[in-house]
Amino acid sequence: MDADLVIRNALVVTASDVWPRSDIAIKGGTIIAVGSHLAVQTGVEEIDAEGAHVTPGGIDSHVHLSQWWNPGPGEPQKTIPTDGTIPNLAKFTGDTYETGSRSAIAGGTTTILSFALQFQDDESIIPVIEEYHKLAAGQSYCDYAFHVIVTNPTQRVLEEEFPVMVDKYGITSIKVYMTYAALKLSDYQILDVLYAARKSGITTMVHAENADVVEWMTGQLEKKGLFAPHYHGLSRPPLVEAEATNRVISLSELMDTPILLVHVSSELAAATVRNAQTRLLPVHAETCPHYMYLLADKMRAKGFEGAKWVCSPPLREDSADLDAIWRGLRNGTFTTVSSDHAPDSFHHPNGKQRCLGDADHPHGKFKDIPNGLPGLETRMPLLFEGVLDGKITPQKFVELTASNPAKLYGLQKKGSIAPGYDADLAIWYPKGGIPSFQLSNEMLHHRIDYTPYEGKQFRNWVRYTILRGKLVFREGQVVGDTSDGVYVKRGRSTLAGPQNVWAEWR
Ligand code: URP
Ligand code: ZN
Ligand code: ZN
Repeated sequence: MDADLVIRNALVVTASDVWPRSDIAIKGGTIIAVGSHLAVQTGVEEIDAEGAHVTPGGIDSHVHLSQWWNPGPGEPQKTIPTDGTIPNLAKFTGDTYETGSRSAIAGGTTTILSFALQFQDDESIIPVIEEYHKLAAGQSYCDYAFHVIVTNPTQRVLEEEFPVMVDKYGITSIKVYMTYAALKLSDYQILDVLYAARKSGITTMVHAENADVVEWMTGQLEKKGLFAPHYHGLSRPPLVEAEATNRVISLSELMDTPILLVHVSSELAAATVRNAQTRLLPVHAETCPHYMYLLADKMRAKGFEGAKWVCSPPLREDSADLDAIWRGLRNGTFTTVSSDHAPDSFHHPNGKQRCLGDADHPHGKFKDIPNGLPGLETRMPLLFEGVLDGKITPQKFVELTASNPAKLYGLQKKGSIAPGYDADLAIWYPKGGIPSFQLSNEMLHHRIDYTPYEGKQFRNWVRYTILRGKLVFREGQVVGDTSDGVYVKRGRSTLAGPQNVWAEWR
């Protein structure tokens, strides 16, 4: 066989199977064969997996890079210039395409889907897509694609630009928000978006939280003088998420079009999704490692420290929520696990601390804390811990981290290990191959000054990451570069579609 790389002695895992002692032959960036004792010409480069798990390279379908983000008053600021120049991100303390994608490959992720954000005063989404292309081109260690966050769904955007977005740019998914003043859409607008999304075959991702309840609760807490970071959690209790989840499921049922609930955090919201799925509605859900491992007590850290764990939906109070999320992974409620990597450095004055400075509130006000956690690099290893604990099977791990995101978002050549697929692989350490260790932020490759998982014990990590046949990460070292990642045009979802319920008005 004419190959240019062979992985030997692999425990190959796909969403359906586990094959011990297998070889994977790769040619021109594509998998050409999977089998035992594959015969190839002499001199071909080989990697000995030493019996370790080899899984498809991860697809992280929810990542914020080079995206100025702060839902606080007066923000988000418009940093994306309209004159065609590359935005000045000097004040931006999150991850860029360069640093975020570097972190991705160091955690076994080979494709990221990040967000291109339309601001409310943007009349068109096409310049937005072009700007994010400029931010990412030649800057990515891994393959990448975009979702568009729609905040101003004008007739022009919905009727003229959605088809262009799909056909020309290969963007087949969007995200809408039900909360945050600067981003949220009304139910009326969401119906408009879903109607247009259905026509163009777009999958709509939804951030489901009830904005009015959050605002009311925030007002109540502030009236009582409660401003510390952990009150963020109290302002957004589980029913805030569950109510909005139920509402948007109803809107999507009316419109007969698929949705994905992003970053589902609680037992209540997961049950709402499950109920819709039992009714066979095309309702998908995503969760994130922080809702599997972390609870709200983190936000009670001394002083402003708790801001490190402020994200929305918030970390939950009750360990029953963690258990419910793991259950939802096993029983199929969740289609994907993504990182929702939305980082801000903690110590930088433009990072989490940019909400400080008011002498009356030395620890700031929880409502102004930039939302989001870093987690791109830790996503795959954290879920793999679940495999080692027997909480999920290796096949389920693959389904959630790669195969389902590929199908849901139309990445036709990614997400599996079989002839014809891109040779994107994560090769883990064999049993006993590395000693169990405690994570510290210095080990990570993002440019954020903390990890929410500082001190967490890990028993395995990705040893080698391979992107379209090229070794890009080897035993703790990034060996790829920013010319490796390419933009991936996507097709329509093969996992979600309308049920084609007839309605005269449609
Ligand atoms: O707190 C979060 N999740 N921030 C990131 C933005 C979003 O809503 O996904
Ligand atoms: Zn969100
Ligand atoms: Zn997000």
